Amino acid sequence: MQKIITLHDLRFEPYLTKAAILAQVQKMGAAIQKDFQDKKPVFLAVLNGSFIFAADLARACEIDLETTFIKLSSYHGTASTGEIKEVIGLDVDLKNRHVVIVEDIIDSGQTLYEFIPKLEGMGPASISLAVLLLKPDAVKYEFDIPYLGFEIPNKFVVGYGLDYNGLGRNLEEIYQLVE
Ligand code: IMP
Ligand code: MG
Repeated sequence: MQKIITLHDLRFEPYLTKAAILAQVQKMGAAIQKDFQDKKPVFLAVLNGSFIFAADLARACEIDLETTFIKLSSYHGTASTGEIKEVIGLDVDLKNRHVVIVEDIIDSGQTLYEFIPKLEGMGPASISLAVLLLKPDAVKYEFDIPYLGFEIPNKFVVGYGLDYNGLGRNLEEIYQLVE
C-alpha cells in the first residue's frame, strides 16, 4: 500500500523514491565532474528548495568546487505569483567563474528566466543549469539544461527540499499531489 501523506489541507502520494532520486543525482554529478575538471566551478544553489539537492549533487562531484546559496523565491502556495524578489546572499565574485545554477524545479521557468540575465551581467565565464525536476507542460520559456534529473507531469510535488507552504522539505522521497 502506498503511503498517502497530508500537508496542511492537501494529500500527496509517493512519486519518486529516494533510491531513484539519488541514482539520478549521482549521474548528474558524474557528468558535471567530467565537464568541469580543473575549472573549479561555483555551484549557485537557489534556496530554499535546492538545499538538499545541492548537498547531494556537490557530494556527487569529486572535483574542486565551491557551493554558495542565494535566495530568489517568489512562490506561494501551489501557483507561481510571477513576481521575483532580489538576489539575496550572493557572497562570491562570479566574474570569470564557471557557474552551475543548482535549482530544485523549473515550473513556469519565470524565476530563472529573470535571474539568468542578472547573472550574465556579473561576467561569469560560463553559466550551466543543473535542475532536478522539469515540468515540460508548464514551462513558458526555453532553457538549455545540460544536467537534468527528471521530466515530470504538471502536478505539484513536495519532498527532497520542495515544500507546500513550508511543509514537506524534509521528506526523503518526492510526493505528488493527489487531485
Ligand atoms: P518557476 O519560476 O515557476 O519555474 O518556479 C520557481 C520555484 O517555484 C521553484 O524553484 C520552486 O521553489 C517552486 N516550485 C515550482 N513548482 C513547485 C512544486 O511542484 N512544488 C514545490 N515548489 C515548486
Ligand atoms: Mg527553487
